[in-house]
Amino acid sequence: MAEKQYGFDTRKVRAGYNSAEHNYAISPPIYQTTAYDFKSVEYAKQLFAFETVGNLYTRVGNPTVGVLEARMAELDGAAAAIALGSGMAAISYTLLNLAEGGGRILVSPYLYGGSADSFKKLYPKFGIQIDYAKHIDDPAKLEGEIAPDTKAIFIESISNPSAVLLDIRAIADVAHRNGIPLVVDNTVATPYLLRPIEHGADIVVYSATKGLNGHGNIIAGLILESGKFDWANGRYPHFAEKYYTLRDHSTDEHRSYLEAFPDAPFTTRIRFNYLNYFGAALGPFDAYLALVGLETLSERLSKQVENARIIAEWLRRRTDYVEWVRYPELSDSPYRSLAEQYFPNGAGGILAFGFRGDEVQREYFLDAVELINYHVNIGDARTLIVDSPNNTHGELEPYEKERADVPPNLIRISAGLEDPNDLIADLDQAFLASERSKLIAI
Ligand SMILES: Cc1ncc(COP(=O)(O)O)c(C=O)c1O
Repeated sequence: MAEKQYGFDTRKVRAGYNSAEHNYAISPPIYQTTAYDFKSVEYAKQLFAFETVGNLYTRVGNPTVGVLEARMAELDGAAAAIALGSGMAAISYTLLNLAEGGGRILVSPYLYGGSADSFKKLYPKFGIQIDYAKHIDDPAKLEGEIAPDTKAIFIESISNPSAVLLDIRAIADVAHRNGIPLVVDNTVATPYLLRPIEHGADIVVYSATKGLNGHGNIIAGLILESGKFDWANGRYPHFAEKYYTLRDHSTDEHRSYLEAFPDAPFTTRIRFNYLNYFGAALGPFDAYLALVGLETLSERLSKQVENARIIAEWLRRRTDYVEWVRYPELSDSPYRSLAEQYFPNGAGGILAFGFRGDEVQREYFLDAVELINYHVNIGDARTLIVDSPNNTHGELEPYEKERADVPPNLIRISAGLEDPNDLIADLDQAFLASERSKLIAI
């Protein structure tokens, strides 16, 4: 499909799949199999020598999962993609593959709580130090925060939960001037709203659990690479390590990932080192569900953006219960010009607001929502609400929440596909119900 340059909406339902290769099945079949017959000893030899492309064992590759990988690579304009069992697996394999053996990752302070907590609890034990950027909003100063052993900059394109936007192109330029890649967690945006590689990103990671799939029924992750970064620039000696398993069978010479897979060394190294041995494989049924979800990506995201805008504007008028609203397209948002620059299709389906009232009132409000689900996921077809400081970011200590700009009264909404009037009516009655806490206090 790639050479025909089909539009995004055509690619999202067709890319990476040729029905003639699958008994003319219109929907990608679920290859529910552990392994694949080798046909012959010669074929097995070719597979193990990477001389032919084929299936071997579902932990490292599966035809249904392969369609998802190929489709996502085409949607994001990537050289290659690898699907994994969760978004956390995508982030951890990416950072380990970058800083294996020790190093630093310079990260945005505006991140999903699980990412931030894992950065504190786990990575230092693997010799990887995480530095929180003090100037992520000011790329000129950011340059001074890159150390000789910094291996990458890591950001979220639309941050969870506050929908912070960053100047991706300027950050990518800083990274490249210093010989390091920019990694973008594009979970909230999805490739329908933003394709980070077009703005200079080198690696894109996703939790496909969220808007990519969009139906709240799988856990999945993806890593994509642009194919343009120079991994031989001296900062990544592990990419040049030569392995027996990658040997050239005609000469018996051991080869590195850069030699054996020059077009996609990053994701291939993840596949045969990390996925192969750490094993967070995505099952074919979940890949199938992700593919079905992707078919309606644009339609869902457009409607979610529309509902997020309506809810944000309505909340802004409810100053009786709302202290502030964060949605990048609002006229008073500090991110409005970045929203215009980077997000022509809309600045995402999540928004946050500060509840005006005490903790008890806030809890009454959350208990009172009826239609909207009180729930930690995002990007679902259903509208979801959550008090992020207590759960999605509940692992963070107060100083970490402050650094991430997650104030205690923050409530996050992930807009779904419902009639916006019903959503507003639900919020309205829940605000009123929160008053009951005051009556009980009397
Ligand atoms: C921005 C972001 N990245 C990564 C993750 C982790 O994804 P998963 O739950 O699929 O492991 C999440 C989960 O909420 C997220 O919001």
